[in-house]
Amino acid sequence: MFSLTVNGEKREIEAAADTPLLWVLRDTLGITSVKYTCGVGECGMCTVLMNGTAQRSCVITLEESAGSSITTIEGLPDEHPIKQAWIEHQVPQCGYCQPGIMLQAVDFLTRVPNPTETQINQAMDDVICRCGSHARMKVALKDAVNTLNQKQGG
Ligand code: FES
Ligand code: FES
Repeated sequence: MFSLTVNGEKREIEAAADTPLLWVLRDTLGITSVKYTCGVGECGMCTVLMNGTAQRSCVITLEESAGSSITTIEGLPDEHPIKQAWIEHQVPQCGYCQPGIMLQAVDFLTRVPNPTETQINQAMDDVICRCGSHARMKVALKDAVNTLNQKQGG
């Protein structure tokens, strides 16, 4: 038995220690916003926040994540600047990749609060969107940076 906190709720999970966190979230807990695509940590579709840091849940085991706090897109407040900017700029097309990409963007903003254009491009090019929404993602991310800076400026 392993314990996890998922979106603020403590969960007890009975599964093999080497079960990927992705399958725990999707199959055991029914959180299907966490998507499977490559299964080898390359595409970013399965990204969640683990203790506030973006992690690709297909390559993290249940045992490795035990005791941690996991956030999926459902746990991100509606007023978060990333959610607001994604809505404002209508970033998603089919939407499949977006939960993971938004959480990657949250992690990026936390680590790099004043990114350069190059840093934004690199961060967003590190995830795959088959619909090609990268241009809108980058504009939305810049907008979220401005919103955060305005809030911090008072
Ligand atoms: S499914 Fe996890 S990184 Fe692609
Ligand atoms: S919006 Fe369709 S895969 Fe990204």
